[in-house]
Amino acid sequence: MSESFVKVEVRGRVGLLTLNRPQVLNALSNEVIDELSAAVRAFEADDGIGAMVLTGSQKAFAAGADISAMSDWTYMDVYKADYLGGNWDALRRIRKPIIAAVSGYALGGGCELAMLCDFIIAAENAKFGQPEIKLGVIPGYGGTQRLPRAVGKAKAMDLVLTARMMDAAEAERAGLVSRVVPVERLLDEALEAAGTIASMSLPAVMMAKECVNRAYEASLDEGLLFERRNFHALFSTEDQKEGMRAFVEKRKPEFKHR
Ligand code: CAA
Repeated sequence: MSESFVKVEVRGRVGLLTLNRPQVLNALSNEVIDELSAAVRAFEADDGIGAMVLTGSQKAFAAGADISAMSDWTYMDVYKADYLGGNWDALRRIRKPIIAAVSGYALGGGCELAMLCDFIIAAENAKFGQPEIKLGVIPGYGGTQRLPRAVGKAKAMDLVLTARMMDAAEAERAGLVSRVVPVERLLDEALEAAGTIASMSLPAVMMAKECVNRAYEASLDEGLLFERRNFHALFSTEDQKEGMRAFVEKRKPEFKHR
């Protein structure tokens, strides 16, 4: 049996996914994405999982889509297959939170994959970039849309047009990553953050994720209404009763995730 491209582990209520294609710096072939998508969907369906961490190797989170696979494709090949749709697109429909733990290169589709996670924790050696322009193409998995939303137009244009890489410190200053940690702390930090999230009420976590994402897609008015309706909806959960009673009774809440 061939070795899996995605290592799948469970740590308490956290699902850990590790890209495992080291020979090519975790280049994202369709096979890798199919496996990743299946693993993420399995965690999504598993009531025992409250959050996920997606990581790569120390040298590379992922160095982009698989250039060797793509090099001979024609317009009709990619158009008919709707390349970067399908299982690639399915990843962004996941409702439980996913943290990207990025060490080393996150380039092209690798940077885009990290950006479609809910937030990025970076190791000090992380490097982010959208170097597709050097290959005669452009980012195709959200880079021209998510990067400007994360870092603003000036820096996004700079990265997309010059193909230069941004180190972890610059990425944190620009707002692309939420925290930068020493390389050896990366996985623990991400697992701790995911563990904290997974200990919260799952319905509240899922609605919070959905509402924050709405901020990108709707007018302020629509976003505020969406947030308020979800806030109202959470008063139908047992966890809201438990969370608020526990606060009043000065004890830790015991969430049932319903
Ligand atoms: N696809 C396929 N193979 C890749 C790859 C990729 N994206 N990135 C690296 N590799 C392979 C290399 O070909 C090399 O294989 P061999 O050992 O068989 O030669 C192996 O991984 C190691 O890479 P390097 O020897 O190049 O390692 P390095 O340390 O010298 O350089 C690097 C590292 C700067 C990341 C360099 O590998 C690189 O520039 N990679 C390509 C980055 C890139 O252009 N990404 C965008 C891809 S297009 C895309 O992602 C489209 C989209 O929007 C979805």
